[in-house]
Amino acid sequence: MNDSRPGRVLFSAEAIHRRVSELGEQIRGDYAGRPLTIVAILKGSVIFLADLARHLGHGVTIELIEASSYGDGTTSSGQVAIRRYGKLDVQGRDAILLDDIADTGNTLTAVRRSLEGMGARSVRTCVLLDKPCRRQVDLVVDYFGFEVGDDFVVGYGLDYDDYYRNLPDICTLRPEVVGVRA
Ligand code: IMP
Ligand code: MG
Repeated sequence: MNDSRPGRVLFSAEAIHRRVSELGEQIRGDYAGRPLTIVAILKGSVIFLADLARHLGHGVTIELIEASSYGDGTTSSGQVAIRRYGKLDVQGRDAILLDDIADTGNTLTAVRRSLEGMGARSVRTCVLLDKPCRRQVDLVVDYFGFEVGDDFVVGYGLDYDDYYRNLPDICTLRPEVVGVRA
């Protein structure tokens, strides 16, 4: 494993930390003590979840699901497979669907529909990164940390072929890194 960064730093750990605190305070204010279920999509949202959840105060439950629309590379398959862990009880609850990034929007759209089908009282979406230029569906992103352009990015939960999730900064991926792995 090479320790050097895979590309240019887009958002430093400090900048992410500050923005996640702001987002957490915003969400906490918006729900003002109402019971809230965070439905976090594995694996990309785990680091964001851990940091954000600690700003949300009381009355919060956390559910984990797996949703994959990506294969090993950097292009979307368009198909979204959803797997739940445990009973995933959102019936009558306000839910926030959490992911690392909104890219084509297929994942969040499919999962949101499925949570609504399970009787959630409301479903909002929250991502650390929003990549609106890649959108294929009409998705409303209710909360986002930063907007990004058409770069493939890694770090702070975001992966390339399952690597780089543990990087504290968010970086672009140099073309020569693609295919070589970490
Ligand atoms: P969507 O369904 O196309 O919006 O894709 C969402 C999923 O694609 C995210 O949960 C990520 O796992 C992955 N993804 C999209 N863009 C990137 C990126 O730039 N870096 C890493 N993963 C990405
Ligand atoms: Mg991913």
